[in-house]
Amino acid sequence: MPAVGIASGGDGKEYPGKLTSYVLVTCIIAAMGGLIFGYDIGISGGVTSMDSFLMKFFPSVYRKKELDKTTNQYCQYDSQTLTMFTSSLYLAALMASIVAATVTRKFGRKWSMLFGGLLFCAGAIINAAAKTVWMLILGRIFLGFGIGFSNQSVPLYLSEMAPSKFRGALNIGFQLSITIGILAANLLNYFFAKIKGGWGWRLSLGGAIVPALIITFGSLVLPDTPNSMIERGQTEEAKTQLRRIRGVDDISEEFNDLVVASDESKKIEDPWRNLLQRKYRPQLCMAILIPFFQQLTGINVIMFYAPVLFDTIGFGSDASLISAVITGTVNVAATCVSMYGVDKWGRRKLFLEGGTQMLICQIVVAICIGAKFGLKGDADNLPKWYAIVVVIFICTYVAGFAWSWGPLGWLVPSEIFPLEIRSAAQSVNVSVNMIFTFIVAQVFLTMLCHLKFGLFLFFAFFVCVMSVFVYFFLPETKGIPIEEMSRVWKQHWYWKRFVTDEDYPNDGYEMSKPTTVKTV
Ligand code: BGC
Repeated sequence: MPAVGIASGGDGKEYPGKLTSYVLVTCIIAAMGGLIFGYDIGISGGVTSMDSFLMKFFPSVYRKKELDKTTNQYCQYDSQTLTMFTSSLYLAALMASIVAATVTRKFGRKWSMLFGGLLFCAGAIINAAAKTVWMLILGRIFLGFGIGFSNQSVPLYLSEMAPSKFRGALNIGFQLSITIGILAANLLNYFFAKIKGGWGWRLSLGGAIVPALIITFGSLVLPDTPNSMIERGQTEEAKTQLRRIRGVDDISEEFNDLVVASDESKKIEDPWRNLLQRKYRPQLCMAILIPFFQQLTGINVIMFYAPVLFDTIGFGSDASLISAVITGTVNVAATCVSMYGVDKWGRRKLFLEGGTQMLICQIVVAICIGAKFGLKGDADNLPKWYAIVVVIFICTYVAGFAWSWGPLGWLVPSEIFPLEIRSAAQSVNVSVNMIFTFIVAQVFLTMLCHLKFGLFLFFAFFVCVMSVFVYFFLPETKGIPIEEMSRVWKQHWYWKRFVTDEDYPNDGYEMSKPTTVKTV
């Protein structure tokens, strides 16, 4: 069997330092940047199934829904206009992340977060006050800009602040906030939908202001990362800052490595063109493939359309929201498991276990739905036990995602890019994530209508592909200092052909040093 995984942690450099309460608090505040993303993911599906919202903004969709008494469960909700509302935001986020790359690099991570918070506030206000469809769309564009900025900066901020031993757990704070945002939004939708007078949707959309204010004020009190300070020439301040965050005086080794990384970075004039250099091929591939695969797990089919989906498989509309809350809770809980284990068990183990778990669940759900609805999609009086079995497997699938591709889809890219391409590569990561979130959201209902239960097999196929990819091509990054990461590529059976010692003469790691190469 080929030696595909590199066992790490302990076989390389370890800088002095501990997990100080200062780092812990700053990381908790920064991680809250994930709340805005999560809130939006969770709120859209519920709002677009509120009748009062549909009657006001999408009357034709509402009429169609009312008139359409078809018994074909697969095609009930197929409406492009409505999905366009949900997914328009992701296009805005995609564009914003490209601008955010420059802001993050030139002005530092915290200013990107601040912009993100402010833009999201604006979007929330416009949406809550919306009188016309164009106000709704304008609001969503602002929300998208906000997400583009914060998803660009928060994961980088967390990975740069954290001591390498705890980087995984601290970075996953971002995903934890995403999941908390989703859950909070699902709960709020449930209650707001019941408001008499049909204006509950305004509260749901306007509620986005709360997470937006948290990140706006949070970013004002956050310090910048030493990496970013050095990159912007504030060398002395960076030294003081590094001492403070590591809680030790002896930071010279780490500091020197940061300066070397920054010097490398200064030689680069155009980080975008630079990304295309052969030596960055591994990072570029990961920046594209990791977010692509994350979305092709099909998770957002559950996140956006859980109410619709549960309705389809035989729950009433109230029960379907409750089921969405159940999946939301599982999502939060399983993310905590990942936080606990990521720096102990490593990234690869979580990826592979999570992938297998998702695969099994997708196949079972496809069989359950196929067996009951067949190809036509007609089914009456579904037994309760049947719906319960489907919910159990959907929850197990969500748990698999929540301790693997969910958090790791943000963690791994943020820790593998060298400083000189970090902002640009992160923006590729965010953009690809947004494009595929958009595509999945946009085509899901049509796909459900045409592929029927085969939709779950479609995603299962990709889960297989991505697990094989991780097995052969993703090196373990647990515990390796972020500015030392080049060595994982140099030691990797495949990627080593792209990276040579000359490419990274200063990474402080000798190739001749014996390393543990694990055969997985
Ligand atoms: C993904 C989102 C997804 C969420 C679910 C995130 O990591 O990027 O697309 O909705 O996880 O928890």
